Amino acid sequence: MTAPARTNPPLLHRSRSPLDRRNFLSLAFAGSLAALAGGWLGALFRFLRPPQKQGFGGRVYAGRVEEFPPGSVNRILAGRFYISHTPDGLLAIYQKCTHLGCSVPWSEAEGQFHCPCHGSLFTPSGEVTGGPAPRPLDIFPVEITNGEVWVDTGRPLTRSRYEPDQAVKV
Ligand code: FES
Repeated sequence: MTAPARTNPPLLHRSRSPLDRRNFLSLAFAGSLAALAGGWLGALFRFLRPPQKQGFGGRVYAGRVEEFPPGSVNRILAGRFYISHTPDGLLAIYQKCTHLGCSVPWSEAEGQFHCPCHGSLFTPSGEVTGGPAPRPLDIFPVEITNGEVWVDTGRPLTRSRYEPDQAVKV
């Protein structure tokens, strides 16, 4: 005579004790606190991070390199600067006159910048050649990435004279 087959008890048997519920609630509470803290830290980071400005005061896309042939001076209205392609490379020249701040136009006929307010004159690289302006026109940092010309109008650079290394080689 053979003994009746025994069935094994289930391997995963969990009791529903009050301790398990307490653990679950603790974990849920800790998870909620972590999510809340993460959201709060994210909001704080966005608040403290400097805003990424578009247009004047931030990074401005001027165009593709080939749009600025050697010897050309092109006005970039959105950034309030000119891209001047000098023999040394590209310069982003701020349009603001260093005398009293008038907007200085490029005169194609004269081949120079000519301020209409008090007659200051500037070369294509922004050097003063006449008038009351005390120093060259300011410039902005230029960056060329994959053939695209970008200008950081948030950082105007004053200069006492023109130096070839101010231009970005193309
Ligand atoms: S503001 Fe340009 S010369 Fe006076």
